[in-house]
Amino acid sequence: MDLYDAMRGAPTSRLFKPDPVDREVLVRALDSARFAPSGGNRQGWRVVVVQDAERRRALRDLYLPPWRAYMEQTGGAAILADPGGHDQRRVGMVRRANEYAEGLDRVPVHLVVGVRLDDVLATDAALPRQSIVGGASIYPFVQNLLLALRAEGLGAALTTLLVPAEEDVKRLLEIPDDVALAAHVGVGHRADPWPERLARRPVEEFAFLDRFGAPLV
Ligand SMILES: Cc1cc2nc3c(=O)[nH]c(=O)nc-3n(C[C@H](O)[C@H](O)[C@H](O)COP(=O)(O)O)c2cc1C
Repeated sequence: MDLYDAMRGAPTSRLFKPDPVDREVLVRALDSARFAPSGGNRQGWRVVVVQDAERRRALRDLYLPPWRAYMEQTGGAAILADPGGHDQRRVGMVRRANEYAEGLDRVPVHLVVGVRLDDVLATDAALPRQSIVGGASIYPFVQNLLLALRAEGLGAALTTLLVPAEEDVKRLLEIPDDVALAAHVGVGHRADPWPERLARRPVEEFAFLDRFGAPLV
């Protein structure tokens, strides 16, 4: 698959066929994702591939409380209670995301991605705002992984809601103390057809020439 086609055509997949995913395909995707950049080339990523049904159920049980709280906070629960009064695209997305959460245990493969804290340097940690840079040593790897999975014809959903429950997740999966949770990626064979086009803003809305706000295109 052409790189640009993968970049433009890797949506969040939230509905999967029950078919298992070949381990060798997952290993192949990880084997390409590992060429991601990281600060100092420390490569602090660690991944637990969860296929065991009992552990997938436990992950679902840890995911659901923060998901339900998120639905309440962001108005998702209100949308589902009264879908008629809202934009139908948003209703569809909330519904799919909710079904994904409620059926998380049925997602064939869960990739739990962590990063060794000693391998992360947040150069903005002292600034009087939330730190962004720490994630730069793990999320390029996660995006590489999403693209590799797409190239393999697999669907994937990146979420971060399990991170607040990292203590329980780490206990469940025997992840050592010095590894922080960064992402959860549900993987499987996509049940829906791949979309023709993803909804994203055009370049002129976010890229500028020489000074912020000056048109580039
Ligand atoms: C940091 C991050 C957190 C996300 N969390 C969730 C989540 O909790 N649940 C979910 O269903 N999707 C989650 N997503 C997926 C986004 O909703 C998705 O990328 C976005 O809506 C675009 O969807 P599309 O790629 O299908 O067009 C998350 C994505 C990112 C990057």
